[in-house]
Amino acid sequence: MAEDLQIITGNKTEQYQSLLPQIKGLLEGETDLVANLANIAAALKEQFGWLWTGFYLVKEDELVLGPFQGPVACTRIRKGRGVCGTSWAEAKTLIVPDVEKFPGHIACSSLSKSEIVVPLIKDGVVTGVLDVDASEYNQFDETDKRFLEEIVGMLSY
Ligand code: SME
Repeated sequence: MAEDLQIITGNKTEQYQSLLPQIKGLLEGETDLVANLANIAAALKEQFGWLWTGFYLVKEDELVLGPFQGPVACTRIRKGRGVCGTSWAEAKTLIVPDVEKFPGHIACSSLSKSEIVVPLIKDGVVTGVLDVDASEYNQFDETDKRFLEEIVGMLSY
């Protein structure tokens, strides 16, 4: 497929509905994990313009920084620490409307105000997380949860 992403305006659902088949197309025929995570992070950043979009992968007993778009970030996060480590420990998506109100939130960037973290789950085991940060409060809701879970579900990791 062409590598240019078609960016649309519209409400959040419309934006995801345009983006999802394009992400599916990007992943089709490519089995390399890093390549696929890198393109997902880039596609989300391009369409939505969020502050930070990217992945942490479970390596031994920590989450380690993977492909991302945005400002440089913390490289390692322990299980149960911060939003990412809590999403890993609880194996569920966490929506954080105001990061300052999340106990133990890890501030990689002082610009981050709200966040959503979606776990990657294979055979019932969390293998990593998708983390998205916004520079404004209250940017994520059930719509993001639904579509971002659908996106990570396209990965076989
Ligand atoms: N805020 C995250 C850390 C990762 S950065 O936002 C990229 C957390 O609390 O887990």
